[in-house]
Amino acid sequence: MNRSSLLQAAIRGMWLEGSSVVCVELAPTDGTRWPDFAPGAHVDVHLPDAGARSYSLVGRSRCGGGYRLGVKREEGGRGGSRWLHDVARLGMAFDISEPKGDFSLVEQAASSVFIAGGIGITPLLPMMARLNELARPWELHYAAARPAEMAFREEVDSLACDGGQVHLYFSDGAACRLDLASVVRAAGERAHLYCCGPARMIDAFVQAGAGRPAGTVHFERFAADQAAATDGGFTLELARDGRKLAVPAGKTVLDVLLDAGVDVPYSCGQGVCGSCETRVLAGEPDHRDCFLSDGERAANTSMLVCCSGSRSARLVLDL
Ligand code: FES
Repeated sequence: MNRSSLLQAAIRGMWLEGSSVVCVELAPTDGTRWPDFAPGAHVDVHLPDAGARSYSLVGRSRCGGGYRLGVKREEGGRGGSRWLHDVARLGMAFDISEPKGDFSLVEQAASSVFIAGGIGITPLLPMMARLNELARPWELHYAAARPAEMAFREEVDSLACDGGQVHLYFSDGAACRLDLASVVRAAGERAHLYCCGPARMIDAFVQAGAGRPAGTVHFERFAADQAAATDGGFTLELARDGRKLAVPAGKTVLDVLLDAGVDVPYSCGQGVCGSCETRVLAGEPDHRDCFLSDGERAANTSMLVCCSGSRSARLVLDL
């Protein structure tokens, strides 16, 4: 990991948001103020014994210098959320990355429509807060399984009081269900649409927004939509240190690099966060991420080494 720009954080507050989300308030251990962040950004949290995990920033901490994260407990996940729910205590310290990410708000849009499924509300909260600051119109369509599972409900209500319209949906029948295609159809031509939630919601959103003007449909996935490439059978050439590394079946490029002691930044391990993006100098990657744009994939000048493989026998990386 590149640890040069890490921020030293301590847990200053934790509380439940809905039945399965914990809001974790982090503050700088040295009393400084962390940098401002763009709405929609995330940080990599370097958890003790659990590696790095990416979580969206919900907002500033109450004291102003730190950040708040929303973390849903994922029973089938890799252990980061269970650690934060079950082990983390006030005062515990760990490192986090500086804020980053490509899921960004178009502030000058004529109107903004947000669609959230469950924990997908987290990156949208600072976007709506920012639009309130700018006195620009927005609407939120927020779906959850049940009212008790809806995280950040009070914050959503408060944002709605300051501007914007909120529509809530529950799949247990407590309110009508979200008809995502209708929401997208009803949005004006000049509106920008944002969606964050489970994979099938994102898939439906992308499909519904296919005919809209270019650049008006924005989404963020929490999990990759394809399996990592682990067929192996090619050679990595590290242009800077000169080594050649064989990638065997069953291993990702990232596995091979880490086994060889190469210092590659990474976080989600699923082709989602972009932390492991690496320049490609020769060869043709087998792209499996959901981070790069179609144009970036076609250019073959970079790849996400945690999940992508190679279509060519030789892949030369700028490492
Ligand atoms: S580690 Fe997140 S995209 Fe590779």
